[in-house]
Amino acid sequence: MLEEKYYPDRKLAKDARIRNMCEYRELMEWAKEDYEGFWDHWAKEKIEWISPYSKVLDESDAPFYKWFIDGKLNVTQQCIDRHIEIRKNKAAIIFEGDRGDKQIITYLELYRNVNRMANLLRNEFGVQKGDRVVLYMPMIPEAAYAMLACARLGAIHSVVFGGFSAEALRDRIEDAGAKVVITADGAFRKGKPYMLKPVVDEALKNGCESVEKVLVVQRNFADIAWIGARDYSYNELVVSQPDECEAETMDSEDPLFLLYTSGSTGKPKGVQHSQAGYILWAQMTMEWVFDLKENDTFWCTADIGWITGHTYIVYGPLAAGATTVMFEGVPTYPDAGRAWKMVEEYRINQFYTAPTAIRVLHKLGESEPQKYNLSSLRVLGTVGEPIDPPAWKWYYESVGGGRCSIVDTWWQTETGGHMISPLPGATPIKPACATFPLPGIMAEVIEPDGSPVKSGEQGLLCITRPWPSMIRTIWGDPERFAKSYFSDAVKDGRAVYFSGDGAVVDDEGYITITGRVDDVINVSGHRMGTAEIESAIKKHPHVAEVAVVGKPDELKGESIFAYIVLKDTESGLGEEVELNREINDVIAGEIGNIAKADSIVVVPGLPKTRSGKVMRRILRAIAKKEPITQDISTLEDPSIVGKIENALKCSGC
Ligand code: WT7
Repeated sequence: MLEEKYYPDRKLAKDARIRNMCEYRELMEWAKEDYEGFWDHWAKEKIEWISPYSKVLDESDAPFYKWFIDGKLNVTQQCIDRHIEIRKNKAAIIFEGDRGDKQIITYLELYRNVNRMANLLRNEFGVQKGDRVVLYMPMIPEAAYAMLACARLGAIHSVVFGGFSAEALRDRIEDAGAKVVITADGAFRKGKPYMLKPVVDEALKNGCESVEKVLVVQRNFADIAWIGARDYSYNELVVSQPDECEAETMDSEDPLFLLYTSGSTGKPKGVQHSQAGYILWAQMTMEWVFDLKENDTFWCTADIGWITGHTYIVYGPLAAGATTVMFEGVPTYPDAGRAWKMVEEYRINQFYTAPTAIRVLHKLGESEPQKYNLSSLRVLGTVGEPIDPPAWKWYYESVGGGRCSIVDTWWQTETGGHMISPLPGATPIKPACATFPLPGIMAEVIEPDGSPVKSGEQGLLCITRPWPSMIRTIWGDPERFAKSYFSDAVKDGRAVYFSGDGAVVDDEGYITITGRVDDVINVSGHRMGTAEIESAIKKHPHVAEVAVVGKPDELKGESIFAYIVLKDTESGLGEEVELNREINDVIAGEIGNIAKADSIVVVPGLPKTRSGKVMRRILRAIAKKEPITQDISTLEDPSIVGKIENALKCSGC
């Protein structure tokens, strides 16, 4: 392919951790030839073990792979204690609130704050190793303390994104069987307070019997209800806690956290991550992919409710001893220069965000970056969805001044850390292309039988060998784990991990992600199962049938398009506006505002095969207003296609 390539800046490459493609290839060859030796080397070099492991990888119970067998460690010692010696007064977290309030937390302060919160959880609430703790938190330092306090005690945290509804929160609390919920009264967004605690109250109203205590961080000091013997103020309890708390000795394979994500059924999956493998790769990718140096200040704009926030706001940067920026607000408030103002003020070296944010910032302030001094930037990252070339170019030229490397990082909740990404000092970059697998990661684009796809053709994006930071299981459902990830492709007689994404490899081996091939859609980098949205919509009393598809969207990547069949087909069009509002209210209540549909069309029926399967491909094509190329004669009622197209025309969608 004769595409433009962007080579790393000379100076950046000269000082980089991986300086050229030869070094990259050497690492990759090493991993290919001696897979266990490769990982053994890094696990010994990077991790501070309490006691060493006896074996690198155990594949005997595939796909339930185990890493660093019998090794003992505590992730908070990796992230905090070991830095105290040489970095005690270094900023661990730089926090900026929505309204511009600032806080710098040094490693020593982080150590104390985490220990105090751990003592609080243990002494006041009886939290122990293995207990589940759900966090429903805003982006404030206490969210990081809470995650790390759990890790200190060996409790398993499960962060639920603050945009999820009470219903969605309840499902996740119940599935995890959480003993404690940590939340905040609320926080600030776009200059105004918003609330979280009332959502927790609502979630705990029915069910959630496992929950004994709720810890409330007072952030916006708004009036909230306090339920006696259940709700406690962090601010009040924490002051009397000792700032030393012994770290629990954890096994490499003990669960570190759960994080719920969407799959192709209606029920979210509790992705379970481990201790050692996860923290190893979080740290290594931090160093390799962002080319992290001792004095760097790193800013990832994700929310801690997503895996990106776990790995690249909290665990990765802290394990690497970096300074991580945490931001409560949104990058467009008070104006489209907010993010660039922060880059200038904190002299940020690596900036990591989602294509959606880049598109919005581009649209709102094409030349905004020029008003600020962004010369500290060295590496720019993107994640969560495919980035389009115009957004990539703007990012590269206007934000990065043509000097920074852009790392288009492909990975997933399940992979724990980056899998495919350019290396800033080495990889010649093709715009909007994730490029090559990282050293040690056997990512391949294959056919279901394991054979490589022809260059330029789409195949299944698979990881053909286990890797340390991989998902260990789905909480409480090992069968679903095996079935969801290890039943679509086989290589050399062995089931391999299939990501759910399609990808294309060009004749130079560059991998471009084409997007999900399953029934998962990606709205503004948020991953949502169509089945989840459908089962929410079905709760509306007038809905008989529903099918949800993704429709390409200029800003969000994809938008949610719902086809509805009403129980009472007599319903006239006049009521549609009202109905749309009601349906979106149902979605907001069941899942959260992030899952609201952009288009809702009432149709007389859905295109189904004779066996009753809804042909989503047809619905996707209709939503995109593309001609139907596929054979519709196999449909139970082929005339339905024309009727649906007409319904769309009438509704103006
Ligand atoms: C899905 C995973 C991993 C952190 C954020 C999302 C899509 C992710 C890229 C990229 C194209 C991407 C994939 C993947 N995705 N990164 N660089 N280019 N697509 O985590 O919620 O688990 O979603 O996000 O479709 O499967 P997630």
